[in-house]
Amino acid sequence: MEVLIRPSSESAARLTAEIAAKAIHEKPSLVLGLATGRTMESVYGILAGMHREDGLDFSQTRTFNLDEYIGLSTDHENSYRYYMNHHLFDKVNVRQENTHLPDGTAADIDAECAAYEERIKACGGIDFQLLGIGQSGHIGFNEPLSAMFSRTRPKALAPATIRQNAPQFPSPELMPRRAITMGVGTILDARRCILLATGAGKAEIIAKAVEGPVTSMISATALQLHPKCTIIVDEDAAASLENKEYYRWIFENEPEWQEFH
Ligand code: F6R
Repeated sequence: MEVLIRPSSESAARLTAEIAAKAIHEKPSLVLGLATGRTMESVYGILAGMHREDGLDFSQTRTFNLDEYIGLSTDHENSYRYYMNHHLFDKVNVRQENTHLPDGTAADIDAECAAYEERIKACGGIDFQLLGIGQSGHIGFNEPLSAMFSRTRPKALAPATIRQNAPQFPSPELMPRRAITMGVGTILDARRCILLATGAGKAEIIAKAVEGPVTSMISATALQLHPKCTIIVDEDAAASLENKEYYRWIFENEPEWQEFH
């Protein structure tokens, strides 16, 4: 795992988008894992701009989202399918049939979860996974005590997640209490993971996720076990990290990051 600290939320989102764009350039048929949430909105805005202005080509890209609320149809304004169409898919040339989210209205949720895993496998696995982190320490909706080897499955949302996301619903009680999420094991199978966190509200959980002990109480700590995981934070989200000077040195000096200066 490595940590890159950028001065602002805008520059952190830009770096994330530039790394993703490079991966798409290098492999146009990239299998791209996607997250939703407020943090990712700016990343998708930048990627849409790169498509519009520089011709970033999504025509062969395959996408798999991390999660979807159980009970929300694809045209529901709070569904993650709606979010993805609105923030990215409708603004780039990705083919709708190449975009995948779990179906939160499936009659048989367990069968839908198993089928989702199969669809990922049939595409050759996820090459590049974008992640955010929740107040509960979740990645996807892997709430506390999610097994490190867990696969796509239904999960009850933690109180911290309900507090975090309920304000996005017309009224808090309309927020579903369950979601389908890729498992921690599914995420760890991705060939590369990039987690973006911005803002002071994420400082404490980022410090636990990056520098704390690996524990299923904080699913993001599982990323410490991943062979190629980059955590991108702005100064506010980095505030509680102990080894900031080392992380700053890495971005300034490691050859891999020079082209992003
Ligand atoms: C949603 C997801 C979540 C979010 C996390 C952060 O698809 O994967 O793990 O990334 O809850 O959400 P924001 O960015 O709204 O703070």
